[in-house]
Amino acid sequence: MKMAQNNTEWNENQLRKYDFTLEDIPRFDCNDPNVDILISSNRPVVITGTNLVSTANKWNLEYLEKNMGNSDFTVFVSRNHIFKYYDEKKITRPLANGEIYKVDFVPPTTRRDMKISEFITKLKQWKRGDDRLYLQQALNNTIGSSIVQDFRGFNWSWVNVKQKANSWGPLTSNLLLISMEGNVTPCHYDEQQNFFAEIRGHKRCILFPPEQFECLYPYPVYHPHDRQSQVDFEKPDYSRFPKLREARGMQAVIGPGDVLYIPIYWWHHVESLMRGGYTISVNFWYKAGPTGEIVYPLKGHQKVAIMRNVEKMLLEALQDPREVGPLLRTLVLGRYTE
Ligand code: OGA
Ligand code: FE
Repeated sequence: MKMAQNNTEWNENQLRKYDFTLEDIPRFDCNDPNVDILISSNRPVVITGTNLVSTANKWNLEYLEKNMGNSDFTVFVSRNHIFKYYDEKKITRPLANGEIYKVDFVPPTTRRDMKISEFITKLKQWKRGDDRLYLQQALNNTIGSSIVQDFRGFNWSWVNVKQKANSWGPLTSNLLLISMEGNVTPCHYDEQQNFFAEIRGHKRCILFPPEQFECLYPYPVYHPHDRQSQVDFEKPDYSRFPKLREARGMQAVIGPGDVLYIPIYWWHHVESLMRGGYTISVNFWYKAGPTGEIVYPLKGHQKVAIMRNVEKMLLEALQDPREVGPLLRTLVLGRYTE
């Protein structure tokens, strides 16, 4: 990959190796008109010079330990470097006959509530072979007042203008992410617009458009790993997932001050660089705007939304996850397949 800036802050050896063909996500100053063109057409862009979270430039482990407050924060614990999200509510499901259906699934991480001091101590004492940690906490009223002050000082006028200009819905949350070096959030999509702001350290982000649904093989909607790709990027099983070979992604390495726009329904894989130290990021998640005038043929993300609804309707009608796949196969095989 070409370096966006001629930088000495990181090198290629800090990036994990994958099979994909990847092009660079464009990178523009916030005053460049290309930024608005890309955002309004739901295309990713790295935006520089926004000062979106520059009041957080002073955030480091010492400052956070002193100022985050004494509440419990959400920390995910993993035996390895992969932090694959799952929805706890989808692990079990009551069936019509009163039995409880349990999805065949082993949670790959555990969620732990921790004081910030415990988290930071564990981070500092970490050695190879220990469990890895990833703090993922919504910035809300549980955080200390200095952090709240910094939060108030974010460049809200800049994001509010973008939100309005693109008629996005309301801001739903700001997630604070404090990661150990080398941690990976594997490939998934979210149903929200995202301004992803890097504060400390570097993250490499790999994105795929919603049109590549077939290449990335998401889990069924009823599964705890809904919205996640079933593909293991580090050991891709091409016999199970042959279309993965056709995946064409985009990537960027973002550092302090950069804001990555991750369009709604775009697949993203995020890794904190290896040997780069811990990273701090804050995202800005926005609900989708109103649909507006519908233009045919529909866009990739609109078709993904339709497919999600079909899956949900079938589950609602059949009341048993085990019956969804067989019905879909009956519907399709030999009729909508060649
Ligand atoms: C997100 C996201 C993962 C990470 O902000 O939507 O997936 O590790 N972040 O930063
Ligand atoms: Fe995400």
